[in-house]
This record gives sequence, C-alpha cells and structure tokens, in this order.
Amino acid sequence: MKRRIAENVYWVGKIDWELKKFHGSEYSTHRGSSYNSYLVKEAKTALIDTVWLPFAKEFVDGLEAEGELAALDFVVANHGEVDHSGALPELLRRRPGLPIYCTANAVKSLKGQYHQDWDFRVVKTGDSVDLGNGKKLVFVEAPMLHWPDSMFTYLAGGAVLFPNDAFGQHYASELMFADLVDQEELKQECVKYYANILTPFSPMVAKKIEEVVGMKLPVEVIAPSHGVIWRKDPLVIVRQYAEWAADYREDRISILYDSMWDGTRKLAEAIAQGIALESPATSVVLHNVAKTDKNDVITDVFRSKAILMGSPTVNRGVLNAVAGLLEEVRGLRFKGKKAAAFGCYGWSGESNGMLSGLLGEAGFEVVDEGLKCAWVPDSEALDAARVYGRAFARGAKEGS
Ligand code: FEO
Repeated sequence: MKRRIAENVYWVGKIDWELKKFHGSEYSTHRGSSYNSYLVKEAKTALIDTVWLPFAKEFVDGLEAEGELAALDFVVANHGEVDHSGALPELLRRRPGLPIYCTANAVKSLKGQYHQDWDFRVVKTGDSVDLGNGKKLVFVEAPMLHWPDSMFTYLAGGAVLFPNDAFGQHYASELMFADLVDQEELKQECVKYYANILTPFSPMVAKKIEEVVGMKLPVEVIAPSHGVIWRKDPLVIVRQYAEWAADYREDRISILYDSMWDGTRKLAEAIAQGIALESPATSVVLHNVAKTDKNDVITDVFRSKAILMGSPTVNRGVLNAVAGLLEEVRGLRFKGKKAAAFGCYGWSGESNGMLSGLLGEAGFEVVDEGLKCAWVPDSEALDAARVYGRAFARGAKEGS
C-alpha cells in the first residue's frame, strides 16, 4: 500500500514482520525489518530502490494495482544487495527498457547477481536527474557504506535524503516514522544495526557525514531503506552516527565466555563482582556466548570500553562458540577497546594465551596475561578472580 512520507514522495516498500534472520543467518532480527522503496512523483516518476527477492511479485503487483507501474520513468538503485534490488528482474520483465540510475560499481554488482544487460545509467557524486516542477534527484556516491556500490540520493527541492542502508534499522512498524515508535526499541535496533553492520566502515561513515553536512543541504526527511523514517529533527540519527563512528564506548565492561563444567562461568561471575566493587558506576554485562544471540553480544562489545573473553582449554584450544565470536569481532575491527582473557584448564592450559593473541590480532589492547585457574575454582581462586576483576576495572578506567 502506497503511503505519503513527504510532498509527492511515497513509501511503496514491504514490511517483513516474519523476518527473524537476515544476511542468511548472520543477523538476528528480533523485531522484523522492512525493505523501503520510494516513489517520487513529479512531472517524471522515479522509483528509488525495490524490495527483497521473495517479495518481488507482490511488490510489482502492488505498483501495478496503484497505477504506478506504467507511470515509472526510471529507477534509482542506490545499492545492489538483493534486499533492495531483488524486485528488479520482475520489474524489468514487466517494464522492459526502464533506465536504472546507479554507480559504476552497482552495474558490476547488479550484473554479477542478475546477469542482465539492463539500461544502466552510471552516475557519480554531483550528477542529477531532473524530475520537473523545480525538483531533481542528486546523487552522492557512498562507497563502503556498506558496499562499494552504495550511494545516497537527495531530492533537491523536496529536502528528502534517501541514504539506503545508512541510518536504517531492522525494525518492522506500521507507524512508519521514528518519532511515533517506542524510542527505547528504536534505540536498541539502531545501535545493534550500527554495531553489527557498519562498525568496520566507521572511518568512511565519519568522512561521508562530514561531506554531506558540508554541502549544507536542507534535510527535512531521511528515508533509509530499512525500518522507520526520520522526519522530526531528522539529523538526530546523523549526529548519533558521528558519535558511533568515533571509536564509541560507554562505561561498560562485557564479560563473554563459554563453559564446560561451570568453572569458567564461576570465574566470570567472580571477575564481575570484583569490577562492581572497584567501579560501581561501570555497567558489567555477562554473556555465555553459546547461549546468547551473537548480534546482541556484538552490540554489547560495541558499547563497551573493555571486554573479557573466557574459555576453558579444550583440545589445546578454545570452545567453539568463543572461537566463532572472535572471528566475528576480528572482522568488525573494533578500535579503542581494552581486553583480557580468562579460563579454567585441567592440564595443558593453552586457552588464555590463544585468546590473548586472537584479541590482540582483532585490534583490542590486551592489558595483561589474563586469569588462569587449574581445575574448578575454590573459594581462594574465586577471591583471586575478584582481585583480578578489581585490577581490570582500574586498568579499563585508565586512559578511557
Ligand atoms: Fe539492506 Fe546492504 O542491504
């Protein structure tokens, strides 16, 4: 169903309430998502992005039912990923020859996925297409936000920015606008999205924000490709991204572990008690990473000034869930965070050294050799873990 979001601008996307996993099974979407597509109807009619492949027919049928399919003059593909380009084959099948404005890299990504020679019109930053009635679409390339092909489209004369994935959230809501939804839920989904998807690209986020703000364009609406639309003080999310892009951390320490027979869990809890005794204002969060949603864990890593990673030694290495999490944080390239390792062992005890090495390789500042405990911790070992937690809290405070 077509919904007005600004003068002559309509949302025509798909709200996906059922979605529980995104990017294959890489990203949990506890609150669903949406694939936002927009119609700009001036003397010419432009369609900005489409929807995910499973909804292609429903999407194009909807455009036809609203009388918009035949009215389209061209499509803008801000990004080639299938959640936004997935309806292009169906659309072009029913409207052959429709021009597609996109970056040179998007030609590669779209051809690479759909193997079609569509009428691509390659655009660069500053290029524009006139819509008539004193309005035009202006393009701003945004490479690595978050694919090489990404770009923003700005409606000049309407003050609407269509930044595609940037400033979005995986959040299904019929309310459509950021100012109408539950603010705590919205905040949680925004930070999770940034932490899990955009963290590696923070230097590009900072630069792009500087560039776009420097253009001094009036912005009344920011209409991303996922989740709700920003219209009341729309730059609030831009300011938030600038903060997140600057090696963000709160007064928070995350303790992440897995445990076989509870020894490493007991260490984790005693370390947390030590941190709380030493620094009562610090939020301490514990996650058994084998039992907690991976993306929620990553969100806590993003928010933390320091992390502790724990695993018992098994087969001269670490437990599977901890190894998987380390691979995830390696790829996300967190900066400005401290870390240490801990864990129990029976006889060889390699896990601490291995975790410390991997945390260092992942970009964390490893503050010490961590805490090891032979077999199951007794009361003395738990006291030592509390002392260790106190020392770690002091270290995490210094320079943070
Ligand atoms: Fe929402 Fe990068 O696709």
